[in-house]
Amino acid sequence: MNRIEFLKRKVQELYQAQAPGREEWADWLFANHIFLVSDEAASLAIRFDANAEIAEAAGMLHDIADCVMKRSNPNHEMHTENIATELLTECKFEPSEIETIVTDAMRHHSCYSPQQSPKSLEGKVMATADAVVHLTTDFYDHAVKDKLRNEDSGDVRQWVTAKLPRDLNNKIFFDIIREEVREAHDRLKEKYDSLDWVLEKKSAIL
Ligand SMILES: [Fe+2]
Ligand SMILES: [Fe+2]
Repeated sequence: MNRIEFLKRKVQELYQAQAPGREEWADWLFANHIFLVSDEAASLAIRFDANAEIAEAAGMLHDIADCVMKRSNPNHEMHTENIATELLTECKFEPSEIETIVTDAMRHHSCYSPQQSPKSLEGKVMATADAVVHLTTDFYDHAVKDKLRNEDSGDVRQWVTAKLPRDLNNKIFFDIIREEVREAHDRLKEKYDSLDWVLEKKSAIL
């Protein structure tokens, strides 16, 4: 078994353990997000001449603390980095590779600002892969429906309004990829711009 296969098995075990305090979305993310991102990261890495193993590992491990705690826990990021470092060490990744995966690609994958954005090619590939998967799967539909159960519809609307352009413009580092997913982004934007949020909230709760 190679390092990536070994890591994949470890990540699967963690999600499948279904720890009682895990993030509410953890099961959905395991089934519908994590390995789509790591597969997308691997193929983008090949396309853009990055190290595919590093990009794929970062994709598998992004937000890994979801397995054991809620996102709202202030220690979530620290735990994500600790769990990732432990697993990567076990899977025989070199310290310099772990540095790129954990402190560049994973730490900055949300791309909240130019300073908080990945600098390595592999980190850029991973952030791009995450955004591509957000925009081309039912990620937004699931997220909106789920958030409407507990949050004010105005807040959810604001979340979507901020996240869609961040996915398209901040997280995608390759112009050609941005153009490939622009239509999917525009469809989502149109859908959520014209949504009757009050009615949607009712149906999400019912
Ligand atoms: Fe994330
Ligand atoms: Fe993600």
